[in-house]
Amino acid sequence: MPAIAIIGAQWGDEGKGKATDLLGSSVDYVVKFNGGNNAGHTVVIGEEKYALHLLPSGILTPGCTPVIGNGVVVDLAVLFEEIDGLNARGVDTSALKLSASAHVIADYNRQLDKVTERFLGSRRIGTTGRGIGPTYADKMNRIGIRIQDLFDEKILRGKVEGALELKNQILTKIYNRRGFTVDAVVEDLTQYADRLAPYVCDTGLLLNQALDRGETVLLEAGQATLLDVDHGTYPFVTSSSATAGGACTGSGIPPTRLTQVIGIVKAYTTRVGEGPFPTELHDDNGEFLRKQGWEYGTTTGRPRRCGWFDSVIARYAARVNGVTDFVLTKLDVLTGLEQVPVCVAYEVDGVRHDEMPVNQSDFHHAVPVYEYLPGWWEDISQARSFEELPANAQAYVERCEQLSGATISVIGVGPGRHETVVRHPLV
Ligand code: IMP
Repeated sequence: MPAIAIIGAQWGDEGKGKATDLLGSSVDYVVKFNGGNNAGHTVVIGEEKYALHLLPSGILTPGCTPVIGNGVVVDLAVLFEEIDGLNARGVDTSALKLSASAHVIADYNRQLDKVTERFLGSRRIGTTGRGIGPTYADKMNRIGIRIQDLFDEKILRGKVEGALELKNQILTKIYNRRGFTVDAVVEDLTQYADRLAPYVCDTGLLLNQALDRGETVLLEAGQATLLDVDHGTYPFVTSSSATAGGACTGSGIPPTRLTQVIGIVKAYTTRVGEGPFPTELHDDNGEFLRKQGWEYGTTTGRPRRCGWFDSVIARYAARVNGVTDFVLTKLDVLTGLEQVPVCVAYEVDGVRHDEMPVNQSDFHHAVPVYEYLPGWWEDISQARSFEELPANAQAYVERCEQLSGATISVIGVGPGRHETVVRHPLV
């Protein structure tokens, strides 16, 4: 009964979709347990490229049941846009299951996300503007709207009324915007109810029963460890639990049933949005990584900030999540560099830190301590075993592994499904 969590070990966009897809045929259920359409998976199958924001990437694997868990916040328009888009390309989405307890992103929360960011000015988070933060805030404030509310108009109306009492005050009095009417919000949400009904169930029960039968469940995180609301670089984080603990609360699978935690880590580092990033490069090397790695956001199209591999972060992610295996992605992007720096520690005001500083202000001032490894020039995209990698690339992987504190089991050497070196099979 394996329950495997896949989590991002940096600031997102590590290539989780590819790893999920790699496990696809041995997996019965793929679960999205946090976040919403702020995520972006790109999965390449043959000549076809699929950019998914809300649906779990397992939706592309025949025979696999994709599940949107209770920890997710759902934008219904986006959900059906993605379903319709996939159907038009011949992908069957009828197996999708959606938790009755997942929260819904209402129009007023999309609006609030955008105006709050504008209001914050230089203190903005750089959110994706999809209404994620305000929807999770409503959940914690106990004024959220859940999927199950959409099937009883009286209940829905009451909840929308309650939420708007507060939201309209904020929108009109603080931000000088127009408020929303209860009718418009209720109509917007209920228009999806009939199409939604066949997908909705108690996904926690469904998944635990699947584990009882000995089936394999893959829990796929949105965002990543350093964007986790508890363990990330707060306040420059997303509003959900993107770590292995979140896989349990966001799915209803208990911690005692998790059998494996796979951390996805890029061979260098990227970040979108604001917030500290010690190994960030503002020079030609940063541009090199952005161009070679095509580092532009799947969701917002924003150029990603790029920097060298940071083993302090990888070690931290291994610890917070209990990583059993790392998948090191995009090693091919580093091809052609004379030297490849790896951050092994930080220096903060003259003091060396081998672990993540607990104090965020220290992290803001952290100066990376680098070790310089020799680069390689050979095209590695054809390598399918570790031994086929150039000696310097092997040494780079081995050093990253040593510093990160967990085995690097899989290495990505290109964007395609098969452009992968498997050192140790994941399941
Ligand atoms: P939010 O999730 O839209 O509230 O944005 C909060 C922070 O998380 C911002 O810095 C976003 O850029 C970042 N973020 C959200 N989703 C992703 C993702 O899928 N990849 C990388 N960064 C993300």
